[in-house]
Amino acid sequence: MELTLEKIISESERIVFFGGAGVSTESGIPDFRSEDGLYRQKYDVSPEVMLSADYFRSHPEKFFAFYKDKMLPLWAKPNTAHLAVAKLEEEGKLLSVVTQNIDGLHQAAGSKRVYELHGSIHRNHCMRCGKAYSAEDILKADGVPRCSCGGIIKPDVVLYGEPLDGETVEGAIESIARADTLIVAGTSLTVYPAAGFVNVFRGKYLVLINRDRTPLDEKCDLVIHGKVGEVLGAAVR
Ligand code: APR
Repeated sequence: MELTLEKIISESERIVFFGGAGVSTESGIPDFRSEDGLYRQKYDVSPEVMLSADYFRSHPEKFFAFYKDKMLPLWAKPNTAHLAVAKLEEEGKLLSVVTQNIDGLHQAAGSKRVYELHGSIHRNHCMRCGKAYSAEDILKADGVPRCSCGGIIKPDVVLYGEPLDGETVEGAIESIARADTLIVAGTSLTVYPAAGFVNVFRGKYLVLINRDRTPLDEKCDLVIHGKVGEVLGAAVR
């Protein structure tokens, strides 16, 4: 009998969905490494440098100019991929979402248990007094966003050179270790430690839904090279 995504989902009770930027491209947010990805766009300083902790400290004005221009797509709406994943959780078939994305679209689609490995644009805190601010506060600030106490407001996003949040990592790994099916989608699996977490999976079905090939393709039980919104939307009625 041919192994289909529908069959795998119908048999599974503890799915973990592991996603990357490719899950949000159908919401209009470019990914990083595709032809039209953010890292392919020409800048005098590479985006990967501008999104580093060092650059945030040494060039806050330029950091926030880039960040506000490229990392705050507050207009974006969840697409069929986000909605399908939220539905699986509602049906009691999904343990959690583990995402490398910082756009909050899984929660906007209704997902409850989401491990945001690289943080979220929706959480921002003053570096001096810790006061919380919204992504909208950052977007509308002139230049470097300042707290009422005068401190710089830093997004709770994992910048290059920063560690991931310990509790988030622990929860994500515990989830993947318990899963009976791991669906990896919309990620090139090139950034560690996130990419390495999929190796913790010990369950029955390892599924990959990605437009391009990835290093994981050979190890999967099912590989679908396609658009994750379309594929998941069709498989999750
Ligand atoms: N459907 C399926 N796959 C898609 C779609 C789509 N609609 N759109 C893009 N893809 C695939 C691309 O083929 C690519 O392999 O998604 C992948 C996106 O890869 P990246 O752009 O490298 O994004 P990601 O893997 O999430 O990057 C990881 O890098 O810069 C850091 O912190 C950043 O979290 C990010 C991390």
